[in-house]
Amino acid sequence: MAINPNEDLKNQHLLAMGMSGSGKTYFIRNHPIIKRRGVRLVAFDAYETHDVNFSKSMAGFHKNFVDAVKSGKSFRLGLSVSPTVENFEKFCRLIWAAADGNKELVVIIGELADVASSGKASEFWGRLVRVGRKYGVILFAETQRPQEIDKTIFTQAGRKWVGYLEPYDHAYVEKNVGLEKMSLSTIEVDTYEHFYKHGSSIQRGTRNKKVKI
Ligand SMILES: Nc1ncnc2c1ncn2[C@@H]1O[C@H](COP(=O)(O)OP(=O)(O)O)[C@@H](O)[C@H]1O
Ligand SMILES: [Mg+2]
Repeated sequence: MAINPNEDLKNQHLLAMGMSGSGKTYFIRNHPIIKRRGVRLVAFDAYETHDVNFSKSMAGFHKNFVDAVKSGKSFRLGLSVSPTVENFEKFCRLIWAAADGNKELVVIIGELADVASSGKASEFWGRLVRVGRKYGVILFAETQRPQEIDKTIFTQAGRKWVGYLEPYDHAYVEKNVGLEKMSLSTIEVDTYEHFYKHGSSIQRGTRNKKVKI
């Protein structure tokens, strides 16, 4: 059960959308919250794209995670199992049980569309998204298929990174992210260009021009 709710904690959740290879993982890897030395970080990442110590089984991850939390030290742990809704729910349940409003816990999700439905968020994932913030949870979710994830994360993630997407997704993402005044069609494939939206501020980043986070 999550403990020590703290209403003063800011919403730092980030949702990164873009085609495979558009630069989502690169952006997250280089994010100051992720690079922080004392970070407590876990990743659900079936394809092992993030820089963490992976467990290949739920039981192994469970043990490593519980030990790491108990140690009081920083950690970077990953779970690399088949990306099913069931496995993801088990992962989210472990996170929820350990969440503590006095200590940040960063959670990366390698491909949300594999494990989240476009309807309502599953139980523990839904809790992390809706109330995780006040229990110190900071979510960094990646998706290649923004139309296949639940709407909750769209409304709850205060920060959005949008890289190259196929035209099929443009109208949906422009509308749901609030990029109506920008055009996603101006982002060319393989350029790593992107929009970054935080509150009402929208920036355009390129390979050489970093956005202010
Ligand atoms: N802004 C960037 N500048 C230089 N190389 C980048 C940039 N963004 C991504 N890359 C490189 O492109 C490749 C794919 O990026 P990645 O972040 O893994 O894509 P995604 O997570 O969207 O599938 C990686 O080799 C990565 O290092
Ligand atoms: Mg990636």
